[in-house]
Order: sequence, then structure tokens, then C-alpha cells
Amino acid sequence: MTDPATPAIFGTAPATLDAPRSDLPELLTALADDLRNVGYTVDGVAALLGGSAHAALARDQLIPALIVTEPAALTGDPATDRAKAALAVVVRLWLLAVPQTEGDVDAALPRVRTSGLIELGLVEKNDGGAVAAKVDLRPYGWEGDSGADNSGSGGAELWVSSDLAAHQQPGVLRHDHVLGIGQASTTLVQTTIRRHSKRALDLGTGCGIQAFHLLHHCEHVTATDISERALAFTRFNLMLNAEALHVDPADLESRVSLRLGSLLEPVAGETFDLVVSNPPFVITPRSAGEHSSEQFTYRDGGLPGDDIVANLVRTLPDVLAPGGTAQMLGNWEIPAGSGWSERPASWLAGSGTEAWFIQREQVSPELYAETWLQDASEGRDRRLYRDAYAAYLEDFASRNVEAIGFGMIWLRRPLGEYPGTAQTRFEEITYPIEQPIGPHLAAAVERADWLVTDELSDAHLVVAEDVTEERHQRPGAEHPGVILLRQGAGLRRTNLLSTELAGFVSACDGELSVRQLIGALAALLGGADDFDDDAFRARLLSDVENLVRDGFLLPAA
Ligand SMILES: C[S@@+](CC[C@H](N)C(=O)[O-])C[C@H]1O[C@@H](n2cnc3c(N)ncnc32)[C@H](O)[C@@H]1O
Repeated sequence: MTDPATPAIFGTAPATLDAPRSDLPELLTALADDLRNVGYTVDGVAALLGGSAHAALARDQLIPALIVTEPAALTGDPATDRAKAALAVVVRLWLLAVPQTEGDVDAALPRVRTSGLIELGLVEKNDGGAVAAKVDLRPYGWEGDSGADNSGSGGAELWVSSDLAAHQQPGVLRHDHVLGIGQASTTLVQTTIRRHSKRALDLGTGCGIQAFHLLHHCEHVTATDISERALAFTRFNLMLNAEALHVDPADLESRVSLRLGSLLEPVAGETFDLVVSNPPFVITPRSAGEHSSEQFTYRDGGLPGDDIVANLVRTLPDVLAPGGTAQMLGNWEIPAGSGWSERPASWLAGSGTEAWFIQREQVSPELYAETWLQDASEGRDRRLYRDAYAAYLEDFASRNVEAIGFGMIWLRRPLGEYPGTAQTRFEEITYPIEQPIGPHLAAAVERADWLVTDELSDAHLVVAEDVTEERHQRPGAEHPGVILLRQGAGLRRTNLLSTELAGFVSACDGELSVRQLIGALAALLGGADDFDDDAFRARLLSDVENLVRDGFLLPAA
């Protein structure tokens, strides 16, 4: 563990680390000015490439972007052309990983120039003397958040460096590859509930993407990683974007602490209001005598099966302040004959931690192996591919694993005594949901808390704005056979309603209390000799509670 009093300055020794340098403030300022002047922004790149080439690039397909940025393809008026050509040089250099001439790079980035980029560790000269990217450096931005609860998450436009991805270079990825902003990173960004918090932790920060978002709504962010290279990339990105991230390059530590170490080791004994982690959760077959240098650090925590996720679910609450929350992504193994939630539930047993697991996807061992072998370009060597594929299947079979689940995990250390307020929920939602989902998850947690503290029977409810009702009826039938309540926003749930619940919902205009409405329906629908009034009321109240929990019905303002 790094002693916080004498923090290591990651990213100051490129020869040994092979990562960008963050200790050259003048060059960093020159680079930021040049990138701004050349229009290297999310919108600038999109406009240069055009819709379909830009969309193809988002799928890691470089060819369309290569074609539209060919110097010959850039025709228009000379002034526009010059600006476009300069931007095309930068896009081709770092996004498409095509070496550029030194003259072109110097003309496009006149303050930092090739010499400065080499010093910063961002490019190198290849054998032919051309300037080649050593890293990926791309614009990344997000809008200010409008979600009710996601206050403080203002927008920003950054440049983020990471290692070149599989589609930008030949061969298998290096084992200490520093991951760029991928689909999983974005999923966690969008899932995170953003409130103003004092202290946040990003465990396994990689290039720093989660930490950058946290800086917008948390006073202090601790970012950890087992990889010194990852911390060097993060530090470089923080320094390059100091202004947009509201950090003082001369006093980074007042807002950010970068810590080297495994899992919770670098933060032992500390507590945080919010922890986020996109951990190295990818399940990987273990082999006898393997060394950590053979593991892909960015995705493999080095433990067997899903132990890394199990370990985090069990231990993260130890570093949460009372009421603090952790959000992470994870994989879990599903043994033959058991439901997907049984293993995750076992990780929580007896802990008192409140939890919400949403399984977003479930795949077979075969599909899992294919996905992750492709991810690190391990398919490029046929023998390696065959052996690695077989090892995956053997590994899963050894634990009787039939499928692998992927999803998001929310954990909270209860404010009160267990089991006073503990809420735990496991659900499967595999269809597309609204993004960012974070504000909707925040509202759901609030509603669940409200249900614990308030008396539902006394509440006056209204139907949420995004809710519609759908009735299906056999032709000629007197009554609908199916009544569905649908949510247009958030988790986009659908609820099948009984006739009495449909009657309840249609009367929810905030006028009468839940108790009064249930009483009215009992009077209307009861009367038969075998009508069990108590059971009717209890069942309807429980159904109403579920509709409130899921956001179909809300307390009237
Ligand atoms: C999937 S990447 C996530 C990177 C980034 N946070 C994101 O959201 O894209 C996982 C990160 O965890 C780091 N890591 C791997 N094993 C670790 C461990 N035992 N403790 C802490 N970090 C670890 C890796 O170096 C990598 O940067």
C-alpha cells in the first residue's frame, strides 16, 4: 500500500512505466490548447467523420473513418479544408492509429509539436520516421445531468488517454493493458446514482473514467488500481483536464488521491459515502503455476470463478459510511439446477447489507468464452484460441456452471440496525432500459425507503406521468382479459393488473387515501357470501405497495 502522506507520483518515469507523463505542466498546457484549437471534441470528430463512419467507429470498425479522412477525401473551400485536414491528422493519429508525417503533426498541433508529444509519451517515431500513436487519446464528454437526484453532475468535455485497443493494433493485447472507455465503463457511469457526497472511492480506476464523473459531485475522490500504469494514465488525464475537472494541478491531492494496491487494501480503515467499481470481473480459467503477469489485469482479478465479485460484495460494505452506497458491475456463475440469484444472495447472507441486483444478461459458457477470447484478440492465434476455449469450458464444467449472469449491483450499509431497514431485491431485466438509469434507481431507492418509514394506508397516491394502461379483450368479450400497466421511462416495467387493482389505479388522483380507496373497492366488489374482506384488503394493499415500489404510483405532492 502507498503511504498517503508520501504519495507516489505515478506517470513520471515513462522509461520504466511505458505510460504518459504527467509531470510536464507546460507541455500538458500546450497539448490542451492545441487539441482545443484543432477542434478535437466529440462533436468535432462526429462532424468530420459524418454519421455512418462515426457510428462504425463506435463499433470499433475503422475502415469507413479511414476512407473519409483520406487527405484526398477532404474537399471544400481552402480555409475549411485546412482546418479539417488538421483535425483529420489528429483523428488518424490517435483514433485510427495511422502513423502521420512529423510535418503534418507539427502543423496540426503547433504548440506541443511532435517533440513534445514524444516527451509526454503519447507518440513515437517508427522505423520509417513517421509519428505513430503510443496510446489512444480521445475526446470524451457528457452533458450536465438533468435528473432530479443527480444534482451536481455538471457536464464536461475531456481528452482521455488509455492503451491502444485491440482494433487499433495487431496481436494480442499486452497483459497490463490499460482499458479505455468501453461499454461496461459507460454502463456504470449511467447506472451510478449521483448525489453530492463528501468522499468517494473508484476501485480499479483504469484510465480514470469513473473518477472523472465522481469529481463533479463528490468533494474528494480516491482512485485505486493494482496497476501502476493505470494510475499513471489516470494522473495524466487528470492533469490534462484539470480545468474541466475542477482540480488544481499544483494540489491534486486536495481533491484526488491515487492509491496503488489490490481491492480494499489501499483504503483499509477508511470509509466512503459512495464507492463505484467496474472491477476485473471476467471469469477466467486458472492454471497451475500461473503468474499474475500472464493475466489481463484490466479484466481478470486473478481469482477463480466469480470470486472477485463475491469478495467485493462481501467486503465493500466495510468501507462504507453508515448509509453509504456502492455500485458495481459483475458476473456471477449460475450452477445447473439453481436460480441465478442464489449465489449472489449467498454472498450477502447474514451481512445486514441492503442490496439490489439486476441481472441484465445471461449467457452460456460457450458464448462467454467466445466473447472474452475475442475481447483480447486471442482469436488471432488458432491454437491458442482452441486451447483457451477448451480451458473455459473445462473450468465452468468443473463447478457445474450452466450459465453466467451479468448485471449491476447496488449495496448500502444500513443507517439503522439490521434488520430494521434492510431491503434486498434480485430481479432480471434484459430488455433495453432508459439511460442514464441512475436517476431512476435513485428514485426507486427513495420510494422503497419511503415505504419503510411511512404508513402506506394513509397516503394519497397519483399515477406517475410516464404510465399508460393497455387493455386486451377477445372480440365480443364483455370485459378485458388482460390489463397491463406500462412505464415509459426508467426501468420500463410492465405490470399485469387484477380488475380491482386496475380500479384502484384509475381512482388514484390524490383525492382519497389508500385506505379509503381500498374500502370503497371492497364495498363495491364484496357482498358475496364467500367474500373475505380482510384477505381482499391485504392483497390489494400489497399490490399497491408493489406499484409504489416500482414507480407506477407516487405519493401525491
Ligand atoms: C474493467 S477495468 C475498469 C476500468 C475503469 N474503472 C472503467 O470503468 O472502465 C478494471 C480495473 O481494475 C484494475 N484491477 C485489476 N485487479 C485489481 C485488483 N485486485 N485491485 C484493484 N484494481 C484491480 C485493473 O488494472 C483495471 O484498471
